[in-house]
Amino acid sequence: MAREIVSDMDGLRRTHYCGEVALSDVGSQVVLMGWVNRKRDLGELVFIDLRDRTGLVQVVTESKSTPASFEVAQNVKSEYVLAVRGTVKKRAPGMENPDLKTGAIEVQADEIRILNTAKTPPFYIWDDAGADETLRLKYRYLDLRRAPLQRNLEIYHRTSMAVRNYLSSRGFWEIQTPMMTRSTPEGARDYLVPSRIDKGKFYALAQSPQLFKQLFMVAGIDRYFQIVKCFRDEDLRYDRQPEFTQIDIEMSFAEEEDVWGEVEGLVKYVWKEVLGVDIEPPFPRLTYQEAMERFGSDKPDTRFGMEIKDVTPVFSGSSFGVFRSAIDQGGTVRAIAVPGMAGASRQEIERLTERAKLHGAKGLITVAYLGGEVKSQIRKYLTDEEIAGLAQATGASEGDLVLIVASDFDTAVTVLGRLRLELASKLGMIPKDRYNFLWITAFPLLKINEETGRWEAAHHPFTSPFKDDLDKVRPDATDEEKGKIRARMYDLVMNGVELASGSIRIHRRDLQEKVFALLGMSQEEARRRFGFLLDAFEYGAPPHGGIAFGMDRMVMLLAGAENLREVIAFPKTASASCLMTEAPAEVEPERLAELGIILAKDVKRS
Ligand code: AMO
Repeated sequence: MAREIVSDMDGLRRTHYCGEVALSDVGSQVVLMGWVNRKRDLGELVFIDLRDRTGLVQVVTESKSTPASFEVAQNVKSEYVLAVRGTVKKRAPGMENPDLKTGAIEVQADEIRILNTAKTPPFYIWDDAGADETLRLKYRYLDLRRAPLQRNLEIYHRTSMAVRNYLSSRGFWEIQTPMMTRSTPEGARDYLVPSRIDKGKFYALAQSPQLFKQLFMVAGIDRYFQIVKCFRDEDLRYDRQPEFTQIDIEMSFAEEEDVWGEVEGLVKYVWKEVLGVDIEPPFPRLTYQEAMERFGSDKPDTRFGMEIKDVTPVFSGSSFGVFRSAIDQGGTVRAIAVPGMAGASRQEIERLTERAKLHGAKGLITVAYLGGEVKSQIRKYLTDEEIAGLAQATGASEGDLVLIVASDFDTAVTVLGRLRLELASKLGMIPKDRYNFLWITAFPLLKINEETGRWEAAHHPFTSPFKDDLDKVRPDATDEEKGKIRARMYDLVMNGVELASGSIRIHRRDLQEKVFALLGMSQEEARRRFGFLLDAFEYGAPPHGGIAFGMDRMVMLLAGAENLREVIAFPKTASASCLMTEAPAEVEPERLAELGIILAKDVKRS
């Protein structure tokens, strides 16, 4: 029935976007196209807020002066698609809407055509609040009608354009690389694509273009970039999607300073173009070791203080068992002073202790400096000297609560680092509108994989070790030596988010083979997996290095969003599925047969 009221655009051509009708248009005839955001029917008078991606404009029609359009307007419902021809009028004094860009005017409709009807949407488009995210993701095309999401997509677009313009102006060429390839080791599981022609064989979807961009350098391309999709089967969280986009960059004859200079220029340009904000490079630099010592994280949020302090010397003579055994076992005692939290209740302290345990500590010691007194569960073990020393080392003063963890170094600093973040956010200590960029450098080359207990590349196995540490790059290196090899790797961090990561690469076959061997890879395995790269290094590979930004993360930060899902048009859920298309999905048995695949569940059944 609704169909009968629908007409087409015949002869009507849009003259203005809804959000762009202005006071200067008063008196002109306009033609608008858009969606019904809301309709208010006052009997003799109908108001329609018409919406397109530029915003809203109020359309008004009256039974007396515009009877034809009035009649149509009465049939109109939310989300109907309309064409409106009318005259721009200044709103009567007192009727303006200062919250609306077009709030000083309205369009008196001479003609309204319904171009399409709409079912009642499962959630309001005009109201941000409340709709369940599952429902929003299922009807993503409706969710994307909402202004905040459209704004984020526009920021994404403007960021892409800024990146392309800047890098192109700096001599970088955007070149595409294959997505269906062999496994690229970036530390996640691969998404696999079975081959129909070569049954039993699989392509891997690229986790990054790492090897291809290095081969571009061997090929003499000199400066490459690409805005590129990457695929990783890993645990998802707010800043991780299985399918995400990188701004991938590689340069020949480059050392750290060259890469950092280009990246700082890019960041400055993008922030200015997209937000109009001035960023002032060069960015501060911290070594990995310093970052861990001071912030307990390799991606520190430096918008606030509350830094971690080494209080081992304060307690070197302590009789308190926990401190004593940590120190005697070569561990450490670390602390942070939380401003104004000395009055925390017993329950609050218990909750903090639970958090500390969750993050891996055996317990948490607190010392409160309140009303000239010192309150602590270990008060009786503390000497006056220790109390004064602790205050001095942590900078704690009256009203502050000091949190102490005694443990091995990694546990102590990571636990305090996490509490530092949680408390800063809870206590409102994190200033908004601050963009604190910094470089983290001199990462360890290797780290122990907690699942397998084996050493693996901290970044990827193509990262060059520090020259001074090359003597430790031997297959028979001890664990202690392995842990001490530093990599020419760097991360760009902003406000506690790892925005980009890169390194100066190995460009010689002998060194690359040594690093593979250090990772426990046999020569045969190295040749099988990376033979083409090793071969290429023998044909005049130039020194080179590069970096890759998480593009979605960059846009998330630019847009002030809190989750990648707010800036990716069609994101996946935490379990890597798409609620709209219902991917991943089962496939027809014939398709599997064609690929030579039998599912384990079917094997069992037969
Ligand atoms: P890396 O693996 O550190 O380095 O990735 C580079 C940047 O990509 C972003 N990123 C992600 N964003 C969203 N979802 C994910 N699952 C995800 N994984 C990574 C992060 C990260 O800093 N080939 C190397 C780069 C190089 O050495 O040049 C690489 O891919 O912002």
